[in-house]
Amino acid sequence: MAQTIQIADIARYDGQEVTLQGWLYNRTDKGKLQFLLVRDGTGIAQCVVFQKEVGEAVFEAAQALTQESSLRLVGTVRQDSRAPGVPGGYEVGVSALEAIQIAEPYPITPKEHGTEFLMDHRHLWIRSSKQWAALRVRAVVIRAIRDWLDDHGYVNLDNPIITPTAGENTTSLFEMTYFDEPAYLAQTGQLYNEANIMAFGKVYCFGPTFRAEKSKTRRHLTEFWMVEPEMAFFSLEDLMDMEEQFVSYLVQTALERCSEELKVLERDTSALERVQPPFPRITYDEAVERLAAIRDQTDDPEQKELLALEWGSDFGSPHETELTRQFDRPVFVYHYPTAAKAFYMTPVEGRPEVCRSVDLLAPEGYGEITGGSERIPDAALLEQRIAEYGVNPEDYKWYVDLRRYGSVPHAGFGLGVERTVSWICGLQHLREAIPYPRMLNRLYP
Ligand code: 4AD
Ligand code: MG
Repeated sequence: MAQTIQIADIARYDGQEVTLQGWLYNRTDKGKLQFLLVRDGTGIAQCVVFQKEVGEAVFEAAQALTQESSLRLVGTVRQDSRAPGVPGGYEVGVSALEAIQIAEPYPITPKEHGTEFLMDHRHLWIRSSKQWAALRVRAVVIRAIRDWLDDHGYVNLDNPIITPTAGENTTSLFEMTYFDEPAYLAQTGQLYNEANIMAFGKVYCFGPTFRAEKSKTRRHLTEFWMVEPEMAFFSLEDLMDMEEQFVSYLVQTALERCSEELKVLERDTSALERVQPPFPRITYDEAVERLAAIRDQTDDPEQKELLALEWGSDFGSPHETELTRQFDRPVFVYHYPTAAKAFYMTPVEGRPEVCRSVDLLAPEGYGEITGGSERIPDAALLEQRIAEYGVNPEDYKWYVDLRRYGSVPHAGFGLGVERTVSWICGLQHLREAIPYPRMLNRLYP
């Protein structure tokens, strides 16, 4: 039998006889001709079954294939610029074909389905070309994250998921029972990262993180993946310099390696091509002024209300959306109000009501994709902040220890994988940027 190939590589086999194995994605019948769209996990190819060439038995076997039936076929690859597919431009003239399993009537048909229906069938929906494309981009972005950090001297150390304390805030904890003790699913690996840098200098952890977010926004999952780099002897400025290199690499790598996927997603790639350092940097104060100006200019009372903002509160989605529309690439917003951010962030000298924090907001309305800061290096101040935060100081003894034995200025950030993938792919909702999203009302499948 002819060599089994992957559809992604089809261009290399022009003129050759090959074997494909996959699933029937779609079909068009034109009398003595059947056009089968076959997907194999790497791409989609148009396979043409011509009655005169294959004979009655093969023609009927092809006719019996229902949507998503699994199959194996042999045929000859030929270039044809009209041929649809991923990548398009080549089709397969079928000579032999066998069904492996004839699929039962498939629930997801080419007609429109509601989101809840599709989410209930997520285990099947991931076969649809846009879902497939987004998840392939995700895999490339994850690899790029690791490549960049590994190539720049960062040591990967993964931190516990079952933790005794809150890492980020006390309002979104998933509590569990750890034998007889209460424990929480990790909201962040950052606190352990801070211990790790004192041993390794530059580190990162990368894994699932958990937030019992009761909000139903398109930007929140209860389980999401976060990469968290942390660096000893790093200032806020060093952090921004590193982040813009890192994020640009992720975007440029996705552009380079996922051109077919981005085509399937109908992504405007010119917006992504502009993602190159340096990124603009504005303070929280300036962001508040810009938002006030946008508010003054709008005549829409609803929008005016959405954009209302008191100095001191964190931005909501509408604020970030409007702000990022003013820039053609990601924008750093730094020096947020101390009260709006986590307990461990260093207050600005001479102006402790703001802190050495920075969020990176993605353009085109996407908003926050990273959050980071300089960490308080002083034991006494950190102890005071922990007390104000309302948690048991005993639980944070080890964390304060890091300030007693060779404390150094340091900084780090977390980048949300689904937020980043959703922006790169131009998705409307985070749920399509992870295979099986976990959300307020979604635990199945
Ligand atoms: O801003 P966050 O909460 O920061 C931290 O957790 C820090 N401890 C990270 C650090 O400095 N090491 O979260 C970081 C990023 C956000 O910018 C966002 O991209 C993502 O994690 N994120 C979420 N993604 C999906 N769903 C949620 N509920 C998310 N919460 C945060
Ligand atoms: Mg944040």
